[in-house]
Amino acid sequence: MSLVKRCRPRRTRGLPALLVGALALATTLAGGPATAAPQGTLHELAAAQGKYFGSATDNPELPDAAYAATLGSEFGQITPGNSMKWDTTEPVQGRFDFAKGDVVTDFAQQHGQTVRGHTLVWHSQLPGWVGSLPPAQVEAAMKNHITEEATHYRGKVAAWDVVNEPFNEDGTYRASPFHTAMGSDYVATALRTAHAADPDAKLYLNDYNIEGLGAKSDAMYALASKLVDEGVPLDGVGMQAHLAVQYGFPYEMRANMQRFADLGLDVAVTELDVRMQLPADATKAATQSAYYRQVTEACLAVERCVGITVWDYTDKYSWVPGTFPGQGSANLYDENLTPKPAYDAVRTALGGDDGGEGGDPGALKVQYRSSDSSAGDNQIKPGLQLVNTGATAASLPEVTIRYWFTSDNGASTYSTWCDWSPIGCNTVTHRVAAVSTPKAGADHYLEVGFGSGSLAPGATTGEIQLRLNKTDWSDFDESDDYSHNAGTSYADAPKVTVYAGGELVWGIEP
Ligand code: XIL
Repeated sequence: MSLVKRCRPRRTRGLPALLVGALALATTLAGGPATAAPQGTLHELAAAQGKYFGSATDNPELPDAAYAATLGSEFGQITPGNSMKWDTTEPVQGRFDFAKGDVVTDFAQQHGQTVRGHTLVWHSQLPGWVGSLPPAQVEAAMKNHITEEATHYRGKVAAWDVVNEPFNEDGTYRASPFHTAMGSDYVATALRTAHAADPDAKLYLNDYNIEGLGAKSDAMYALASKLVDEGVPLDGVGMQAHLAVQYGFPYEMRANMQRFADLGLDVAVTELDVRMQLPADATKAATQSAYYRQVTEACLAVERCVGITVWDYTDKYSWVPGTFPGQGSANLYDENLTPKPAYDAVRTALGGDDGGEGGDPGALKVQYRSSDSSAGDNQIKPGLQLVNTGATAASLPEVTIRYWFTSDNGASTYSTWCDWSPIGCNTVTHRVAAVSTPKAGADHYLEVGFGSGSLAPGATTGEIQLRLNKTDWSDFDESDDYSHNAGTSYADAPKVTVYAGGELVWGIEP
């Protein structure tokens, strides 16, 4: 199966949308090589349809630079997985600590993202002191907790999961200190208190196994109807959507969303993941992709569905293996932060494929890391790996990759090397070519090609360790090279370009 030619690069992952726009514009203004319109991130595709696309995150994973780069660029909304929960924010009665939650709202502010606050009132991750209170003191403690936290995050949290998981599977109210103390009225009291503290935040009830029609979603529907009738400040219902391939897709998800919407409420998919029994295989992965696609389609079909949040975007930081022993692989990206077929399924559902070409043939991207400890010595050592994010195999002999750099005086002849690759350096070709009209950061490029082979859907070549030097062994200054950055782990590299059949399919040329 050969790669179809395409005239548009379609991936901009890893680069903030604004920056991509700026680069594309700069290139156009400078009259440089044609740079086609980027297709946008998941969030951009969702935003074009009036929705957001977000991810859970939290403090432990934010120092992972490659993780944070994709979190900050691909997603328009984030939810702290743990750091706004009661056990973190008020571990001792009356002693509040918002430091960790603030890290998340700060990240969002820096990346132009909205935040869903999660969660004010929940039976779980609740510090022991709440359960030890005499019931007569629980209402005051709950009101104080909500007031302090919602006030602290005023203007920073767009929507709150005010009450999380109020129901049992059969639709009865779940036992909790709040229900014991106040009966089912605790829900309305919590909503009123949150509204008083932050009148601008959208207030939600959130639960799992309410995605489809059934006893539990009927209970949520009855409660939401009652609260709306009584004029209690409720804006929406959050469906967690912790799905599993072995349990089937929730029955009538779209119709269920629509009945909440018909009450005048917003609906949000708040914690989407699709787990499976390990080991993963192609069949389970296909089912998973279908579930992600169906959730996306349901949200798109219901006008009041405001957006989708995945419960972290990568298997690297999933809660699933720790909570459901033997299960995993639940997220859109694998543990190496490489998008899985489910990612493409969501993308396609959001309208992000090539529109009319049918499927997603041979979508390629390149990831790069610097293997060079010195940016000022006589060798350049890029590590590159080609990834097929599409649905069909890509024929490698049609593919070339360009790594752009400056020669920095010295000889104009080069030696190039492939030092190691799991696909075998004997299939990798490499040469240096001069740029006919030198650009800032690029008067030469290292061109990498392949003598044979194909890359299956979802597969990667694995790293290709490359090296080049001038034949007079004079030094480079890599710091200003277009494709260079100092990152030492593999990350999507929009400034390393990929061509199929001679046409640009990934990245932005200098
Ligand atoms: C999970 C977190 O992801 C884990 O890190 C933590 O150990 C337990 O809670 N429903 C919810 C979330 O509403 O708060 C849960 O998050 C996942 C299930």
